Amino acid sequence: MESKIITGSTAENEAPVRFVIEPSEALEMMKELRLSSVMELLPTLLPAVKRMARAPISSYHVGAAGLGESGRIYFGVNLEFPGLPLHHSVHAEQFMICNAVAHEERAIRCIAVSSAPCGHCRQFLQEIRNASEILILITGSGSGSDFRPLSSFIPEPFGPPDLLLDDEPLLLEPHDNRIEIIGQWDGIKGAARRVRDAAEEAARKAHAPYSGCPSGFAVADGEGRVCAGAYAESAAHNPGMGPVAAAMAAFVAASGGAWEEIEEAALVEKEGAVVSQEGTAKLVLAAVAPKARLLVYHYRTPDAL
Ligand code: THU
Ligand code: ZN
Repeated sequence: MESKIITGSTAENEAPVRFVIEPSEALEMMKELRLSSVMELLPTLLPAVKRMARAPISSYHVGAAGLGESGRIYFGVNLEFPGLPLHHSVHAEQFMICNAVAHEERAIRCIAVSSAPCGHCRQFLQEIRNASEILILITGSGSGSDFRPLSSFIPEPFGPPDLLLDDEPLLLEPHDNRIEIIGQWDGIKGAARRVRDAAEEAARKAHAPYSGCPSGFAVADGEGRVCAGAYAESAAHNPGMGPVAAAMAAFVAASGGAWEEIEEAALVEKEGAVVSQEGTAKLVLAAVAPKARLLVYHYRTPDAL
């Protein structure tokens, strides 16, 4: 059974897939499909979501749908970037979680995904409070049809409690990183100004307790559409999602357009950051959006002024 409300196509005459579903829309879909719970709805959405994956290297499409405590449903797909090493790929589960972060969702209760989540994704989910209780359903063939807790996929987890104090905010919890951009940028106007502001806002919300280097990245296309990504670190380092990848995912979610359409980009990061995103930003833009202009802004935390 597949929901018809989301078409999964951006072809003319068909509604494009949106990457967030409001609770009222979810209810409508449930009625249409005669489902009694939103958990049952999640897997029906995946075939359409999967079609939005950008996987020119593997041709392997993955779709994920996560139910937030707000009742909203967030989607994610995998992204592959031709010209870049494979480790720059974005996994559908990471995309979905960053999508939830961008919408200030405070908890994800259950996730349906079209393939088994890889080790990195299982680890990345550990950044969410009470991660072990997140329920996961794998819809791919031979995986059964039950939601099972993340603790059954990763029974002896390494995670934030190994490195952080209990009162440190975790990935979906409010962050207000204190940031003051250095220098006079009054001359920056229009799209450049909007991407700077969006990148700064993302840096304030970033989850970077392990490096102490929160950062944000934002892009704009020729139509002035602005999309931002906040850095989301992992206790295990490698499974984290950088702000550049997060912004590329936000661009897919917002516009469905080609990355080549990106014209402006801004990175906001700490002065002298021990973990810097500048090299990655240049590398990714050169590969997927070569005509984009990048401006890099540095900040100091107010205490360091
Ligand atoms: N992939 C995911 O999106 N999630 C997973 O956890 C497994 C792998 C993607 C990454 C890559 O684009 C493709 O599937 C093949 O590995
Ligand atoms: Zn994965």
